Amino acid sequence: MSNPATAIGVAWSGVSVDLGGRTVVDCVDLEVAAGSWTTVVGPNGAGKTTLLRALAGTVAHSGTVRVGPARTPEPSGRNRARLLAVVPQHPVIPPGMQVFDYALLGRSPHQGLRFSASATDRRATAAVLDRLDLTPFSDRAVDSLSGGERQRVVVARALVQETPVLVLDEPTSFLDLGHQLEVLELVAELRTERDLTVVSSLHDLSVVGQFADRIAVLDAGRLVADGPPAEILTPELIARHWGVDARTEVDDEGAVTVTVHRRRPG
Ligand SMILES: Nc1ncnc2c1ncn2[C@@H]1O[C@H](COP(=O)(O)OP(=O)(O)O)[C@@H](O)[C@H]1O
Ligand SMILES: [Mg+2]
Repeated sequence: MSNPATAIGVAWSGVSVDLGGRTVVDCVDLEVAAGSWTTVVGPNGAGKTTLLRALAGTVAHSGTVRVGPARTPEPSGRNRARLLAVVPQHPVIPPGMQVFDYALLGRSPHQGLRFSASATDRRATAAVLDRLDLTPFSDRAVDSLSGGERQRVVVARALVQETPVLVLDEPTSFLDLGHQLEVLELVAELRTERDLTVVSSLHDLSVVGQFADRIAVLDAGRLVADGPPAEILTPELIARHWGVDARTEVDDEGAVTVTVHRRRPG
């Protein structure tokens, strides 16, 4: 697979989002350097999905979102889809659609108004499916796949888009531990191969510190901490924002493993 573009960074500056009469993202300033991986964590309802949607341009916001170097204006429509591919938490998959055709949809931002796939589009799609070991599934209906297989297909569609930025909203929420690690390891490998900037959200504290350069903690719409996993994922912070007792272990490379403990009375 070719390197689609030189890495570019993204940033939110003073971004707020109001939904249903409430401020669910509250004046967030966060910068993700080109080629790095930042994971947004936080309790349920903290605003993780909404923050990513502001970046993806699928929710109205105040403040500014930047995709690219400083002072780049916010991209619109198809331009945004050329810069940024999104793996949503709940992807909408047309019923009965085959794996190849679904992944091929990732090429549509490269086309004019009417999408008609070229031989190049088909070759690019086949290469990504092959890279993700999905070739044997090409003719299967996406909705007939297991959760882990389907998740890989959604990642494939995003990669077919060949954008420099990949946004993943809880890409592992329905996967067992083995498949969770598989998807995250795949993203880690692809990031290096393709020089991608990755912005993800994850709720599983046990793995989050092993797959990102930076952790951004959201609580009630506010950014409450942001930095390298070893500085951010401390038992104190986890107790404060999740209300659980945790133990953390940091390895030589700064990766953090978190284990949480049941609180026992007395
Ligand atoms: N369309 C909506 N209308 C009203 N409230 C919403 C809407 N979407 C999300 N919210 C609320 O915004 C808050 C943040 O949601 P979300 O960004 O999905 O959080 P997270 O991804 O961290 O769980 C939640 O309280 C949620 O109920
Ligand atoms: Mg969410």
